[in-house]
Amino acid sequence: MNEKLNNLVLHSIRQYRKPNTLDLTVGEGHFQAPFNAKLGVYEALLMNQTKYSTISGEESLRKKFASKYYSQYDYEEVVVTNGATQGIFITLMAIINNNSDEIIVLAPYYPAYAQIITLLGAKPVIVDTKDHDFKISITKLKEYLTHNTVGIIINEPCNPTGVTYTLEEKLELLKLFREHKMYVIVDEVYRAYTNEDHVSFAELIDLKLKEQFIFVNSLSKSHLITGFRVGFVLSNKQIISNLQKLNWMIIGSLSKLLQEGASNALDDDYYPNFVKRYYINNTRYLQDELDELNIDYVKGNGGYYVFVRTDQMGLDDEGFTNLFSEKYQLAVVPGRIFGENYQNYVRVSCCRDVKDIIRFVEVLRELK
Ligand SMILES: Cc1ncc(COP(=O)(O)O)c(C=O)c1O
Repeated sequence: MNEKLNNLVLHSIRQYRKPNTLDLTVGEGHFQAPFNAKLGVYEALLMNQTKYSTISGEESLRKKFASKYYSQYDYEEVVVTNGATQGIFITLMAIINNNSDEIIVLAPYYPAYAQIITLLGAKPVIVDTKDHDFKISITKLKEYLTHNTVGIIINEPCNPTGVTYTLEEKLELLKLFREHKMYVIVDEVYRAYTNEDHVSFAELIDLKLKEQFIFVNSLSKSHLITGFRVGFVLSNKQIISNLQKLNWMIIGSLSKLLQEGASNALDDDYYPNFVKRYYINNTRYLQDELDELNIDYVKGNGGYYVFVRTDQMGLDDEGFTNLFSEKYQLAVVPGRIFGENYQNYVRVSCCRDVKDIIRFVEVLRELK
């Protein structure tokens, strides 16, 4: 048996969901899938689209996704994956070569990153960002670079903090990535939940940097189809060709039905934009209320999570989550699963009905 797998403890965020509680744990929008996405699946089924798809995913879907969100990439530089989850896994599998390889993970981080890296036999080098507004600074990053560094994962907007980088900060980071050749994996599953002026790394890289960058995204969060499992990886053709091999070995191909549904979902902006505004409003509302209550949190400006400090209320993350679920039937995620330094934080998910966020604020007010 694989010893690393035996030793791996699954830190699934879903385990914090509890029956009969208001659920502010999971990053899964409470609105339903777009109607045209459902219709796409139904029509595809009636049209007998029930055979294998291609290993890289349907060409029309790759074309539509790339031209809409990553115009720097040709459809041949895109592979469709089983959600961003599989995209992250095969990307790391493709770049890790031996067990001295190091991948930099910025804390607080989405738990799967460190676990996958460890499972694949490499070393996750955890770099804490707390002392620098929860962003990586060039000076700090340089301290952690070794001749074993093969890559870095940047999750923007970040789960759990919502932090994004400014254009200037990105240009600085690009200078460093030009100097120090390493793969830069950018997980953008929350990119839809950013302000109008947000610029993705994809819009800033030239042909040379394109050799190093790998973008992972999905329609799970942006189009409320977490269950369709439609994700994308975009990179240069050499990396994509290796990812195709992995896709072939791991999934064979994705369901054509769900890809057709996903493709239909991309045709409409009205509903995803409505959802985006709603969840961003929820997030801003919670941040404003925390300001008023003088409770510290990470001032993110993207995504739909708020990472809230608990020690000012005399509780650590587990004390807070237990109190909230047992006494108030409200579930949130303890900070420690995002990194060992975060035992005084909880993550609150705002992709819920605003009434649930209001209830959470009422309880905070009662406790203060
Ligand atoms: C940062 C991050 N990356 C990837 C994923 C996985 O996304 P998907 O549902 O498309 O597999 C999640 C899910 O919560 C996430 O938060």
